[in-house]
Amino acid sequence: MPAKLQLSFSNAVPKGNVTTICLIGQNGEIISHLEKDVAAHLIGVMATAQFTGKFGKSLLIYNDKNSYLLVGTGDNLTAGIEAEKLGGKVFLALSQTASKSGWLPDHKLDEIILADFCLGANLASYYFDSYFTEKDKDKDKVTVHLCMGSKELDAKSTVLTDRQALADGVFLARDLVFEPANKLYPVEFANRCLALARLGLEVEILDEADMERLGMGALLGVGQGSRRESRMVVMNWRGGEDEAPFALVGKGVTFDTGGISLKPAKGMEDMKWDMGGAAAVAGAMCAIAGRKLDKNIVGVIGLVENMPDGNAQRPGDVVTAMSGKTIEVINTDAEGRLVLADALHYTETRFLPQAMVNLATLTGAIIGALGKEYGGLFTNSDDLGSQLESAGKETAEGVWRMPMGPSYDRMLKSHIADMKNIGGPYGGAITAACFLARFVKSTPWAHLDIAGKAWSDSATDIVPKGGTGYGVRMLNRLIDNWQGASLSEKGQQSDD
Ligand code: BES
Ligand code: MN
Ligand code: ZN
Repeated sequence: MPAKLQLSFSNAVPKGNVTTICLIGQNGEIISHLEKDVAAHLIGVMATAQFTGKFGKSLLIYNDKNSYLLVGTGDNLTAGIEAEKLGGKVFLALSQTASKSGWLPDHKLDEIILADFCLGANLASYYFDSYFTEKDKDKDKVTVHLCMGSKELDAKSTVLTDRQALADGVFLARDLVFEPANKLYPVEFANRCLALARLGLEVEILDEADMERLGMGALLGVGQGSRRESRMVVMNWRGGEDEAPFALVGKGVTFDTGGISLKPAKGMEDMKWDMGGAAAVAGAMCAIAGRKLDKNIVGVIGLVENMPDGNAQRPGDVVTAMSGKTIEVINTDAEGRLVLADALHYTETRFLPQAMVNLATLTGAIIGALGKEYGGLFTNSDDLGSQLESAGKETAEGVWRMPMGPSYDRMLKSHIADMKNIGGPYGGAITAACFLARFVKSTPWAHLDIAGKAWSDSATDIVPKGGTGYGVRMLNRLIDNWQGASLSEKGQQSDD
């Protein structure tokens, strides 16, 4: 995965014909180290243009043969999302200049802020052009030259390489989400995961026979109507001592027609990204391995295509999950939970993880509840929940906690099996979460319903229109800050 932004390193900004990136504080204070006469000139221009240095504002000015991109940092620029957004804005401004290249002079900001700035510029540089026969050759030309003088910052800087690995993970997740379903089906998704072995990840692939042996009737039932075979991918990163791993689990429905409970035609093309949870897990594992984290992390992905055909599962069918529980499949379009039922049980029983987080584009109902601003968070552990909330806030990949409890869970009662796969007409995101909870026995666990987050309708500073890679940065932050978690006495329950 090549970086789409070019970074280059030198000691000082050359004398002529370049664009200098000038960071300006809230009150017009010049943060970048500039020569005195240049600084004096800029102060004059800022006064005329009433440029104050408000966060994210930018202004391109010309002086002799040089140009200066003034960028407002606001008051006291901080590391993390703020520096990233600023990097994204600078990338966009540079991509609109003729030279497409900018020189960042030495400044008072520390290395972490600088690395996050570069991460943001890099995240903004992402595009997906695999299926255009004519490529825009200028796209990869944007260059930021870092001139950190005495700080001797170079391509080997550990913070910069760390951020690069994180961007690689985000880019992988975005690529997977963008890919159409005729190109990216379960076996192909599994192959893309296999390629991550180059980073030192152990990657195992379970085929249908393996899953049959394990009794994964819930997952296999979803895939049985497709010409494409189902797969499960297990990615194991053993960076830590003999501790129990942290587990990530993803829904990977490479296309969701709804099956026999067929979806309407309008918008069905969106269901190519019904593997956004799996993409986030693959991206997170890519980043974790690339960053060489000193922890044990396991990523498990259930991969199926949900199609209607002569062999497809019917509404009313009863399947037996790996846990032994039986499920009456009332609606074949509620397939993600069937895939996760087996993926969660398999992960919990095989790896005995200290905690488990699953990501899934699980329900339209979560979009009804939260819009497209937050992922829905459901958990049996207040500790895990609050750490996810913090990680989400810090990375601008927010989650909002939703309730669970017996009064919702009861809606899954079936007359002929242990449960049915849908609840009543209301609270669909919650009953889906309660369904998943039935396949987790005793592990602190959280379910993130990311149906509103995997794909975006418009670009922001660091996220393109289309595949967002949502979850990769949040999961990395969660794991970096991880404090352990225990089960809560009772889940968050509604009044009975
Ligand atoms: N993949 C969909 C959920 C979804 C909807 C994701 C919109 C992204 C955008 C899921 O498999 C699904 O079809 N869910 C049904 C559940 C219903 C049948 C209980 C839904 O949300 O309508
Ligand atoms: Mn569905
Ligand atoms: Zn689905």
